[in-house]
Order: sequence, then structure tokens, then C-alpha cells
Amino acid sequence: MKLKERKSQLQCFTVCLAISVRNLTTDQFALLQFKHRILDPQTVLANNWNASSSVCKRVGVSCGGIHERDVALNFTRMNLTGTIPPHLGNLSFLLSLDLSRNHFYGHLPK
Ligand SMILES: *[C@@H]1O[C@H](CO)[C@@H](O)[C@H](O)[C@H]1NC(C)=O
Ligand SMILES: *[C@@H]1O[C@H](CO)[C@@H](O)[C@H](O)[C@H]1NC(C)=O
Ligand SMILES: *[C@@H]1O[C@H](CO)[C@@H](O)[C@H](O)[C@H]1NC(C)=O
Ligand SMILES: *[C@@H]1O[C@H](CO)[C@@H](O)[C@H](O)[C@H]1NC(C)=O
Repeated sequence: MKLKERKSQLQCFTVCLAISVRNLTTDQFALLQFKHRILDPQTVLANNWNASSSVCKRVGVSCGGIHERDVALNFTRMNLTGTIPPHLGNLSFLLSLDLSRNHFYGHLPK
């Protein structure tokens, strides 16, 4: 491999990694804020969403796409209650959201 080619690959690797880490952190923050604002009487999320579990492995979260950045959230039938937190809007790669069969009230934030 030519040196120049290799260098540009390395640069891409570093930049791409930085982008994906930054977005994961933003998403992680949004998800944590979401969790803190809903009432979770069965503590489904409380017991499973902690700092030591990687975002994509948490209950209700599926990841896919390049760098696992696409996020699908499925919180159906978790008995969650409260209003739907606006922080969901900060999930940059949210592809699908299923909040059905819970007890959310109020309106869907922008
Ligand atoms: C963190 O979550 C994982 C599952 O995602 C669970 O196995 C583990 O027991 C939890 N740890 C704590 C301290 O709650
Ligand atoms: C969410 O998960 C349930 C099963 O746990 C499934 O029936 C439903 O289709 C899923 N929703 C979406 C949007 O994939
Ligand atoms: C949901 O919560 C109600 C009480 O608020 C309880 O009776 C019911 O069993 C819960 N459902 C699930 C699936 O945990
Ligand atoms: C969304 O993220 C921005 C920063 O990126 C932050 O200032 C704002 O408070 C967040 N909004 C919500 C609803 O979390």
C-alpha cells in the first residue's frame, strides 16, 4: 500500500471514530435524560440502564447501521408513565420509536 493512501485511511479512521464517539455520547446523554424523566414503576430501565452497560445492549435499545449509530427504541409494555421527554428529539439517529402500551400522557414533543 502506498504511504499516502495509508495516511488518508488512518485519517479517516481517526475522524470517523471521533464522530461516532461524539454522537454516541450525545445519544447516551439524551437516553439518560429520557430515563430520568419517566416513571418506571417496574424498574425495568433502572435495573438495566446503568453506566456499565453499553447503550446498544440496554433493554429497549437496538442499534444498527454504520458504527451502530442508528438507534431504534422499543419500550412497549413496560408500564412506563409520565410525559414523553423532549430529550428524545436529541437522538441524532433515531429511526424508530415504539412507546405503545404504556401510560404516557401529554403530547409528543417536537
Ligand atoms: C447493569 O446492567 C446490566 C444489564 O444491562 C446488569 O446485568 C447489571 O447487573 C447492572 N448493574 C448494576 C450495578 O445494576
Ligand atoms: C416492539 O417490540 C414488540 C415485542 O416486544 C413488537 O411486537 C413490536 O413490533 C416492536 N415494535 C417495533 C416498532 O418494532
Ligand atoms: C403494570 O403495572 C400495574 C400496576 O400499576 C400492574 O398491575 C401490572 O401487572 C403491570 N404490568 C406489567 C406488564 O408489569
Ligand atoms: C439537546 O441538546 C442540546 C445540546 O446539544 C442541549 O443544549 C439541549 O438542552 C438538549 N435538549 C434536550 C431537550 O435535551
